[in-house]
Amino acid sequence: MTATCDIPDVLVNALRDARHVCILTGAGVSAESGVPTFRDAQEGLWAQYEPQDLATPEAFLADPALIWRWYRWRRQIVADAKPNPGHYAIARLAELIPRLTLITQNVDNLHQRAGSTDVIEFHGNLFEDRCFADGTLAAGDDSLDVPMCPDCGGKLRPGVVWFGEVIPEAALNESCAAASDCDVFLSVGTSSLVYPAAGLADLARDNGATLVEINPNSTMNAADFDFALAGKSGVVLPELVASLAL
Ligand code: OAD
Repeated sequence: MTATCDIPDVLVNALRDARHVCILTGAGVSAESGVPTFRDAQEGLWAQYEPQDLATPEAFLADPALIWRWYRWRRQIVADAKPNPGHYAIARLAELIPRLTLITQNVDNLHQRAGSTDVIEFHGNLFEDRCFADGTLAAGDDSLDVPMCPDCGGKLRPGVVWFGEVIPEAALNESCAAASDCDVFLSVGTSSLVYPAAGLADLARDNGATLVEINPNSTMNAADFDFALAGKSGVVLPELVASLAL
């Protein structure tokens, strides 16, 4: 991996001419902040579990206290993390482009902590608590193993989208509209394995957008992209912003 990543002139020009840029980020954008990606091996106590086996309504109902322990562990990791140059570059990019839509699959709030606003949280937010029964935002007694909903007395759950659950309607609609309207679509730090998020690039392509993938590892969808910039987002995104600002 070279220390810098040359951004092709034709891509810089496409960004300069863009009216609307849409960015989809995944766990890879937070990797340089020390937050494990979704498919990284989990560490320590949690190494025995697959995230896919914990992040489900069924797992929560089977053992809510275990699921709360897992999410409190993840909250601590993220709370101790800091945004990295990739997060800050995206926040800066929004100042250089007439319209930028940021859609994240991440639940770690790091884009917001780096200054990005109007972030579309496709999979919810790790730090929100919601009533398990009706999904409304709520604040419970966090000293309990399983916080209870102050309204209905039922269990609270972390405000993230679990496997098998639908994407929040507003997030899905806004994301599809942005992907269908943008001139350039950047897919950053995602394995592009999980739909419907991974399908947003298809909407952008069908709309004639220029597609860019930023990932140190080539993904299965790389051939569908006009540009595949092989590198860490914390290196490539600042280079991309620097190229624009020239
Ligand atoms: P994954 O763990 O599936 O993929 C992370 C991607 O980031 C991989 O393709 C890595 O190559 C790449 N990567 C690693 N380090 C990077 C870096 N420094 N810069 C750029 N890329 C880097 O995570 P996601 O694609 O985000 O859904 O996973 C998508 C969804 O799958 C998650 O949101 C989660 C999971 O199911 C839900 O929780 C509903």
